[in-house]
Amino acid sequence: MAIWRNLSLRSKINIILFLVLVVLLVPRLYLQYRQQQDLLLAEAVEKARIITAEATRTREYVSQQLKIGHVELNSDRYGLIPVVSANRIGQLVAKDLNYTIRHTSNRLRNQANAPDSYEQTALRRLIEDRNLHHIAERTTVDGTPVFRYLQAAYVDESCLECHGDPQKSPAFVREIYPPEKDSSYHYRVGDVIGAVSVVIPMEQIERQLSASFRNTMLTTSGFFVALVVCFGILIRKAVLNPLHNLAAMIVTIRKTGHFTERLPVPAQDEIGELVNGFNAMSEELGAKAAQLEESEKRFRLLVESSRDAIVAFLPTGQLFLFNRQAEKIFGYSQRELLGEPLDRLFVPEPDAYSEGLSAFIATAKEPWFKGVHLLKGLRKDQSQVRVEMYVTIVDTGDRPFFTATLREITSGSK
Ligand code: HEC
Repeated sequence: MAIWRNLSLRSKINIILFLVLVVLLVPRLYLQYRQQQDLLLAEAVEKARIITAEATRTREYVSQQLKIGHVELNSDRYGLIPVVSANRIGQLVAKDLNYTIRHTSNRLRNQANAPDSYEQTALRRLIEDRNLHHIAERTTVDGTPVFRYLQAAYVDESCLECHGDPQKSPAFVREIYPPEKDSSYHYRVGDVIGAVSVVIPMEQIERQLSASFRNTMLTTSGFFVALVVCFGILIRKAVLNPLHNLAAMIVTIRKTGHFTERLPVPAQDEIGELVNGFNAMSEELGAKAAQLEESEKRFRLLVESSRDAIVAFLPTGQLFLFNRQAEKIFGYSQRELLGEPLDRLFVPEPDAYSEGLSAFIATAKEPWFKGVHLLKGLRKDQSQVRVEMYVTIVDTGDRPFFTATLREITSGSK
């Protein structure tokens, strides 16, 4: 937390904006990705459903037509076997879409239709659960991700021609698939005889997905980044820059002591109010400082032009005012004495002021202040000078101080 507190407002805002961006953008993109993926999968299922339905209808239609038309089949007309023609038509359609479609069964007639391990399980599920008509799932084939769709094939009256009682089946079917070896006879109407199986490569779906998602990502990110950047610029212009100027101005004023410059008001908002307030305040302070300077100047002139020596000191004896006349009497310059003890200006008189003059004054009683006192002053060159002095307490409340007015006594001095 200490690190955070020590960061500049600019960095904090940048960090917050970045976090806001991430928090807004990442879930949004994730959601959009999932939506598009679902949409593409739904689309794939729909396509699989349509070509499967086409294959199923073809199979059923051809089977019925064979029965109605008493079409005599033989090896040359093998392409008219319902499943064979349904597969063929299905494949022609699926080829354009890059899908594969075929019929499979767990009671095989043609080995070429043998189910793979996935289809075996799926067929078992379709046979066991009569309410389950199709299975759609994402899985892998030899490590490649695919989408698989299986639609149960049900036996109707017309199928029994070749899948029912072998004795009634066409001779050529019995010839190719002898009843004692073939397990695709003896079905009854309504049985699940197999399934139409569709495989859609996921690569294709994913390619579509990444293409469409790239667009979405660009527009969504663009939108959010633009939003955050605009917000950042706004904060920078409306808040950070004016604050920075304000801080810089305060530094300048502290350095120069001049209140002359004014800050430009950025806008009539809260920051504008602050800047206006600051300008007004520095104007007032400038005026006050000028007044103060003026009255100080007058006071200084007053003190300096006095014909008496005037010194002022704190109860500790520390001098803080020493006028020109005092400089003349004692031979010190004001600069030399400011902050020095009052006692330096007088010859010690242990009899009168045992603790020193300033200590005495600090505790002196009222009547002492009424009198004028004769004292031996000590000049810078260590020569003595007789002075008369009277002292006044200036009671400012919390920190009283004293002023002493001194006059050199010329007559009778050594
Ligand atoms: C005219 C005879 C005939 C009719 C009618 C017929 N089939 Fe078949 N069926 C066959 C033959 C022959 C095969 C083997 C096809 C191959 O070589 O791919 C076959 C294969 C299948 C297969 C593929 C699994 C396997 O064992 O090779 C399924 C599933 C199937 N038939 C379902 C049906 C259904 C459902 C109907 C009724 C709508 C039907 N058949 C009607 C002759 C027929």
